Amino acid sequence: MSTPAVRVLPGPDELAAAAADEVVAALRARVRDDGVAHVALSGGSTPRALFQQLVRRPSDVPWARVHVWWGDERCVPPDDPASNHHLAREHLLRPLGAQGPPAAQVHRIRGEDPPRRAAAAYERELERVLGPRGALDLVLLGLGTDGHTASLFPGEPALEERERLVATSRAPVPPHERVTLTYPALAAARRALFLVAGADKAGPLRRVLDARGAGAGAPPAARVSLRSGELLWMVDRAAARELGNV
Ligand code: 6PG
Repeated sequence: MSTPAVRVLPGPDELAAAAADEVVAALRARVRDDGVAHVALSGGSTPRALFQQLVRRPSDVPWARVHVWWGDERCVPPDDPASNHHLAREHLLRPLGAQGPPAAQVHRIRGEDPPRRAAAAYERELERVLGPRGALDLVLLGLGTDGHTASLFPGEPALEERERLVATSRAPVPPHERVTLTYPALAAARRALFLVAGADKAGPLRRVLDARGAGAGAPPAARVSLRSGELLWMVDRAAARELGNV
């Protein structure tokens, strides 16, 4: 497997600004070339600063031509603060308002439904809009301290899914029930951006980058591989401190 592209930014604010530049460039290019762009947002806390950067430059993304998806969701109602949709709605979609994507282009995972039903419905939506491979133009991903990404947690059966685009999984921390894109869905993406910030991610990041291309025993994030797309790690200096000469 090729050496991963890693870009180190001084701190979390610079990471968020640089990530916003990458998101703007990727979405603008797809809209220019295809007339439409599809981006899957990540959850957790890291994306908040990115969302706030995008809100400060609302006209830089042609949101009217952009469809918003999620890489994963916690199985909680959309108004629950633990919901990844809630994070994006509060820090990106609502602040963008009419300058943001039309509601019909926001494809949330129905966290309020039973997980298997939510996963099946999301997969049908992906296939309806994007075709059988569900090829997203841009997928944002985070990294957990246990090496998970999206809701692909160590030891979970979802890691072994080779056909379906969406699966359910269980997180070791609450909310335990999750819905997640699978490796096949991630592999189909044209571009993936891992956004990793903070000293607590230094060890996990080193282990993931050391293990890339390894098999089933590798941390889940190390097993993300794009068929033909580009994968870029954008990390801050604190997260990169164990990477040696990056
Ligand atoms: C989630 C995310 C998850 C997240 C990582 C990093 O639903 O929690 O999709 O994969 O990206 O856990 O989370 P932080 O950004 O909070 O460190």
